[in-house]
Amino acid sequence: FTSNVDPFRNPDSEFSLNAKRGSRLVNENRHMEARKSKAAEIADNSETAIAAVVGQPNGVEQVASGRIGDSANSAPREPPPSFEQIQESRRGLPAYQVKSELLQIVRDNQVIVIIGETGSGKTTQVPQFLFENGFCKDGKMIGCTQPRRVAAMSVATRVAQEMNVELGEKVGYSIRFEDRTSRGTRVKFMTDGLLLRETLVDPLLDKYSCIIMDEAHERTLSTDILFGIFKDLLSRRRDLKLIITSATMDANRFSNFFGAAPQFTIPGRTFPVEVVYSRSPVSDYVESAITQASKIHLATPITSGDVLIFMTGKEDIEATCSGLRSRLSEVQLRRTKENMNDHAESIEILPIYSALPADIQGKIFHKTLGKRKVVVATNIAETSLTVDGIRYVIDCGYSKLKVYSPQIGLDSLRMAPISLASANQRSGRAGRTGPGIAYRLYTEDTAYDDMYTQAIPEIQRTNLSNTLLLLKSLGVRDPLKFPFIDPPNEVTALFSLFELWAMGALDNLGNLTQLGTEMANFPLQPALSKMLLIASQNKCSEEVLTIVSMLSVPQVFHRPKAREEESDQARSRFFVPESDHLTLLNVYSQWKANQYSAKWCKRHFLQFKSLQRARDIRMQLCRSMERQGLYVESSGTDWSIVRKCICSAYAQQAAKIAGLSKYVHLKNGLELRLHPTSALHGAGDLPPYIVYHELLLTTKEYVNIVTAVDPLWLMEYEPLFYNFTRRSENDGDLDISDHKGDELDLCLKSWAIKRANLLQNMT
Ligand code: CDP
Ligand code: MG
Repeated sequence: FTSNVDPFRNPDSEFSLNAKRGSRLVNENRHMEARKSKAAEIADNSETAIAAVVGQPNGVEQVASGRIGDSANSAPREPPPSFEQIQESRRGLPAYQVKSELLQIVRDNQVIVIIGETGSGKTTQVPQFLFENGFCKDGKMIGCTQPRRVAAMSVATRVAQEMNVELGEKVGYSIRFEDRTSRGTRVKFMTDGLLLRETLVDPLLDKYSCIIMDEAHERTLSTDILFGIFKDLLSRRRDLKLIITSATMDANRFSNFFGAAPQFTIPGRTFPVEVVYSRSPVSDYVESAITQASKIHLATPITSGDVLIFMTGKEDIEATCSGLRSRLSEVQLRRTKENMNDHAESIEILPIYSALPADIQGKIFHKTLGKRKVVVATNIAETSLTVDGIRYVIDCGYSKLKVYSPQIGLDSLRMAPISLASANQRSGRAGRTGPGIAYRLYTEDTAYDDMYTQAIPEIQRTNLSNTLLLLKSLGVRDPLKFPFIDPPNEVTALFSLFELWAMGALDNLGNLTQLGTEMANFPLQPALSKMLLIASQNKCSEEVLTIVSMLSVPQVFHRPKAREEESDQARSRFFVPESDHLTLLNVYSQWKANQYSAKWCKRHFLQFKSLQRARDIRMQLCRSMERQGLYVESSGTDWSIVRKCICSAYAQQAAKIAGLSKYVHLKNGLELRLHPTSALHGAGDLPPYIVYHELLLTTKEYVNIVTAVDPLWLMEYEPLFYNFTRRSENDGDLDISDHKGDELDLCLKSWAIKRANLLQNMT
């Protein structure tokens, strides 16, 4: 993660200079002085201001369940805009003003790069312009890709509303495992990953007259691969238009990649945003964000504007929402006691992250009368979604990143500082409807020293096995020669190819094997596809289908605040002591036995929505298996065969016990711990060998979703990799047939260790 990012660290680049010089003001503005003092006031006197209102301990307990601004609140919402009002606001968008020029440049060119401020109407308007101007005659579709599922769904909903049609008919969306399109769909929003998979079945993308690759600056893995695919595809489909939209400075790179494609800038309006840095490093950004948001809310009139807080993920978003709620309850309680009128509780706090159900996500676009809106979001609100009326931004300065270390061959989720480009983008959200203020919960030095100018594209920081498998099945012989806009790290690519080979997806010449071909047919990560295929051979695919589906949905166990103990107990009743995978299977089977009941879920602290989704995914995967002629059978009550299939799929992710509660990774010697929620804790002694689903990197390395395995199985599936050693000198020659699995000591074969060391030396 360090070696391949240096090119981005150019302290002399425009962004860094801006960050340093313009740190106080993103845009110079004559009227700034007056507001500056206001901002400084909110930021600087805050400690005293807040201490004065919430510093008293009395009454805190009584408001623990305060539900300020909860969704259950009954305050009247502004009525939804009428069709006429929507058309009126459409006409006011910057994109609308340049409609005919834009259409002309699209007619004249095959590839166009559109640049425009967030909120100028790129996503919602451009597809409609094309639709209205004959791009769907002959029954072809306009496809619009989004880097995120949430954005695809939300934007499709909005466009359907603007076009006055039912979602799923003329306008629809398609994301993995969820298709809201029909035969009549002409404008289709989808994730970039989904379009990439469509190229597998329809290499010429014949159904489309135009593809809009929205938010291309996000540089997701799928976007980058699609770029490479389009390079060739566009010459074979001269009638296909490609529109790339970008909010930042990457436009030139995109243009150059497609042979000097013309750029079209939508003139935007933005207002100046004052940037306020934290004076000293912040130790707890959730706490700090809560304090800052309460200060803003208490010190300014509600009408002065809404607040947008950037956090890294579900956990800190939820913590911020509930923390802010109780903080303001305390204030309200105190002020009521002192007979002071106050607007502390006139607030609506709304989380937004991708795992959130769609109906709750939609709430961020509604306005409740007489209340200030506080949206707490992941970086989805950076450019993908525009919430109108934001005047204050609070930025924690971090985001969650999936990072791959080729040295140890592991993918992990890490918290990393955002880039300066992201920081500026986040701040900019405060200046859409008027001048705004952005509070950065980090110091100016941090911004200068720790942040890269631009984010590192995903292709240069993640495991590529999934992508390489896809490229192989698209017929790309040498994936290292693929036309990447930014090539992946070569060591990572080699390691990922090696991983595919080790899994049996590639043969010694690097060609797809039968197994590899079949694996690529599932929209799943390689280990899960393999698990399904092995299960089908072993007549337990009914069970493994359930497990794979349960692994494809957000958390199924519900752990509400203040009822942790109770919910932990409920969870432990589902435990299958040797496996978290089987625990998930158990949950699903019992839910099924209870007629898929929502009430039953509630009673057992399970997330009904997640289970429902798992059921839906299961149905789709099942159909996909049947289409491929694979058997779907049940092993009945024999779950050890299921465990064996799990073992075969994760044989590269195995660990053996090393001490009381520790494991070591068999391949790289990394010290691992079981996640505290694992069912294996309930079994007394920990099992000597395990395989795991994912690795989480927090302060320690945790393995999440684990299954106990017999080392003989590992030997059986990976004889090339694993070896038994003698426990002591007196053991004599080792005869495996004399031993039970847990008496044996399994280790990596020396050639595999050498290979790992070699790769380590190369990086
Ligand atoms: O893509 P870009 O950032 O240029 O803008 P957009 O997403 O097309 O948004 C244009 C306008 O539509 C903004 O004023 C949004 O607030 C509004 N919009 C909305 O009200 N509801 C949505 N679900 C999406 C957009
Ligand atoms: Mg957009």
